[in-house]
Amino acid sequence: MQKHILMCKPTYFDVRYKLSTNSWMNPDNKPDIQLAQWQWNELYRACLEEVVLVDVVPPQPNLLDMTFVANAGLPHKDTFILSNYFHPERRQESQHNAEFLRKMYGNRQLWFLAENALFEGEGDAVWLNEHQLIIAYGVRTNLEGVKAIARILETYDPKIEVVPLPMRPNDKFYHLDTCLVYLSHAKTFLIYDYPFFPEAIEKLKHLGRVVTVDKEAAEKFICNSVVMNEKTIFMPWANERTKDLLNSFGYTKIRTFDMSEFMKSGGAVKCLILEMQPPI
Ligand code: ARG
Repeated sequence: MQKHILMCKPTYFDVRYKLSTNSWMNPDNKPDIQLAQWQWNELYRACLEEVVLVDVVPPQPNLLDMTFVANAGLPHKDTFILSNYFHPERRQESQHNAEFLRKMYGNRQLWFLAENALFEGEGDAVWLNEHQLIIAYGVRTNLEGVKAIARILETYDPKIEVVPLPMRPNDKFYHLDTCLVYLSHAKTFLIYDYPFFPEAIEKLKHLGRVVTVDKEAAEKFICNSVVMNEKTIFMPWANERTKDLLNSFGYTKIRTFDMSEFMKSGGAVKCLILEMQPPI
């Protein structure tokens, strides 16, 4: 099956405010927008080269973080659950994403969450297979959000198991995709362990193999990566140790992308990509 993703051009991307949960953002250290657009284009082109189907969400003026489309929501077959963002600065993104999804895939059923159920899409949620979904909560997504997602998914398929992962409040690894990437073909989680409560790590160990990276690698966003296929991974950065490990799992094509300008907003490769189907 061809991989299908969404991306959103960084036309209006900028750092003009601070978000309390994200200490990467500093309006005095603004991204170079032209360079960001170049970096985004490189990633976009590379996705096309990997024969990925890429649909592009129209960016909206004044929604500076909309390019981080991984946070838009959670797709499941013919359904899409739209995010309900923690920070008011990002809340309006959902209505534009909904409009796009309606136009683009008319037959998909869209779900909106209740006000108290906070959820930030693939920033905090990862499908392990058709029936297992892990969702981190405690920073952006909350437990009400996790429960709401589980309730919705249950109406489609009672076999779906949602595994909640409690996260330590912190302002650097504020989304699951900043500290975990699931290497689906090797049933292995590459994680930075600090942001997880021990209970969360225990749960991961029951679901697969857990390999940890160090703080230096984590701060270079090594976990903010996307598995493109059984051989290829897109990453913002990789050290030799990680490359060797990935090679040993059969991921022999490791492509790295300079994400310097997006990291000034606390994002990298995975944040710029929303994956439309669970791993196969
Ligand atoms: N500045 C954005 C925010 O804090 C970055 C989002 C990064 N996205 C991600 N999937 N980690 O909301």
